[in-house]
Amino acid sequence: MDFTINDALDAQSELAARSLTSASHTVALTGAGLSVESGIPPFRGKGGLWTQHGEPPMDGFQRFLRDPRKAWQDRLSPRESWATALRDTLAQAKPNAGHRSLAELENLGCCDCVITQNIDDLHHQAGTRSLLEIHGNHRLLRCLDCITRFEPEEVVVDPENLPPQCPHCGGLIKGDTVQFGEPIPPDVLRGCFEQVAKADCMLVAGTSATVYPAAEFPFEVLKRGGVVVEINPEPTDLTGRATLSLVGPGGPVLERVLHHVSALLKATAS
Ligand code: APR
Repeated sequence: MDFTINDALDAQSELAARSLTSASHTVALTGAGLSVESGIPPFRGKGGLWTQHGEPPMDGFQRFLRDPRKAWQDRLSPRESWATALRDTLAQAKPNAGHRSLAELENLGCCDCVITQNIDDLHHQAGTRSLLEIHGNHRLLRCLDCITRFEPEEVVVDPENLPPQCPHCGGLIKGDTVQFGEPIPPDVLRGCFEQVAKADCMLVAGTSATVYPAAEFPFEVLKRGGVVVEINPEPTDLTGRATLSLVGPGGPVLERVLHHVSALLKATAS
């Protein structure tokens, strides 16, 4: 992505790097903005999916439970053109410099966990190991009873015999993506609360910080006197409260922060 890091932003990136290298536990919270440079549209703001097509019904999950067979028919052959377009975009998307920089920060011991609101699997593809996908993963299926997640090929999906059943417990299977109205799966939510409770530094990249419970996490860290570094080209509900707000696109800015972290670690090692 063609973006110039000016001196002021470079200085702020170095300050952010100092926070990461001196923190005892750093958690990154990411949103749709981080995947914009991978060709996936955000939800809100300019070019946002919901901006263009309107937000989906807030009771998507309740509709699924009322008629899972119809919901599965819609999943197998979506009627809305944007849903097909999104599915194809997700299938082709590749991690960008932002995802790769977070994976490298983990390798350097300066990012202990990534909590992502994104369902696009790109953090996983970039090599992040400690990853919590709070809104699920578009590639996976999940049993609503035993909460086991499956690769698509592990579940028999017979269009003549929907909805599919869990190979483990016989329970109802749905896509792992968390729908509006659906509670966050308890195992992931517990993992997020544990990570946030340990964090004295949070890197918040590419989110409008408007959807809960994720939007609460940076404020939890601030409440306990921790440092919050926000990376976003636009102001958000968090901007006025964050310790540092780096104004710019996630890829180039995270790459710059990583550059400074590497330099600082080299300097302390020598
Ligand atoms: N780099 C970093 N941030 C960017 C970039 C970029 N290149 N481009 C846009 N952004 C910012 C926007 O300024 C905006 O603040 O990313 C943010 C995207 O906000 P949303 O579209 O609201 O996405 P997100 O915060 O992830 O939404 C949260 O809402 O609809 C639900 O489940 C969905 O997980 C999603 C949740």
